[in-house]
Amino acid sequence: MEDKLKIGVLTGGGDCPGLNAVLRAVVKTAIHDYNMSVIGFRDGYEGLILNNYITLDKGSVSGILSLGGTILGTSNRADPFNFPILQKDKYIYLDRSADLTANYERLGLDAVIAIGGDGTMNASASLSKIGINIVGVPKTIDNDLFGTDQTFGFDSAVVTATEAIDKIHTTAQSHHRVMIVEVMGRYAGWLALASGLAGGGDIILIPEIPYDIDVICEKIKERNRLGKNFSIVVIGEGAKAEGGEMIIKRMVENSPDAVRLGGVSNRLALQIEALTRLETRVTILGHLVRGGSPTPFDRLLATYFGCEAVRLVAQKKYGRLVVLKGNDIMSIPLGDVEGKVRTVPFDSQMIKAARSLGVSLGLDWEKIEEMSRGAELVEAIESGRDAD
Ligand code: F6P
Repeated sequence: MEDKLKIGVLTGGGDCPGLNAVLRAVVKTAIHDYNMSVIGFRDGYEGLILNNYITLDKGSVSGILSLGGTILGTSNRADPFNFPILQKDKYIYLDRSADLTANYERLGLDAVIAIGGDGTMNASASLSKIGINIVGVPKTIDNDLFGTDQTFGFDSAVVTATEAIDKIHTTAQSHHRVMIVEVMGRYAGWLALASGLAGGGDIILIPEIPYDIDVICEKIKERNRLGKNFSIVVIGEGAKAEGGEMIIKRMVENSPDAVRLGGVSNRLALQIEALTRLETRVTILGHLVRGGSPTPFDRLLATYFGCEAVRLVAQKKYGRLVVLKGNDIMSIPLGDVEGKVRTVPFDSQMIKAARSLGVSLGLDWEKIEEMSRGAELVEAIESGRDAD
């Protein structure tokens, strides 16, 4: 009889709804289907480096399916290859991958299931190359992880942002104002576009399409001419003006991606007021969209991902990321996603729908078409290169 397998699980990067649902699925599948034992590392890879873990059994994951956040804690600073240590008020960075490997071996682990976003998957791909058996599970409200049609957490964030936009509508209408709602999403506009369309936004600004303030103001004025004396603008935190830069709120010194965005809407509001003379207000949703209970869709996706991750471990298929493709749960090599960001493609249904509905994306459609042709060209050149 083969020895009982022992696996570790961890949650890394920014939290999102559905993390606990994955943990529950991992633990239940591991015990129920494969009689494995499971431990959970605290605060992402930090727990694996510092040997900080808890034993997970069916009881530890009972009642957590609908719970936001993660019972294991998380960190978006615990990069094993660039691990921050505070020394005399200054951070120094050390490669702790050897400590991580030693601890992995000391614990007698057969594999680690790492649930996280791009930062966690980049680290996982590198750890996989130095011999750690890893299976990745893609999370993030940003929906920007390469290789999967959707990450869990995104649907819940869309629901929260849409509810906020619905509520903002009433004040916009009553006060005849321009109301700007800013949502997270870093370098991809999935959340802004999805919640903007679902919430009936009039102007949606995303990082993929730099905006022209005159196009935005013209749309607002046109609505006023047509008797619509209010407008809703939904903007992704990473959106920028044509020829401009993203608005950086702060740099987080000890984080692998130090940039923290937020506040682009304040600048936009001042410009809109100056150019239209219409009262404009800003609501920045920030971390609100990362909280709360996962939607049924996210609970299911998280569950399917968790079950599949354990199956891959049982089949010794390591170095892979569980993904959603159409309606299927599959897996791809972790190396395929390393260093990549999945932005909104120009031919996406959401962009097509925005155009058909008369929603402005903050730039003339001719210019958007031009950008789209440019992107197609780049894609063709790159796939030609891949084919070589
Ligand atoms: O990647 C998820 C995310 O919520 C982004 O949308 C956002 O820019 C970032 O994390 C915020 O990070 P932090 O929680 O460190 O402020």
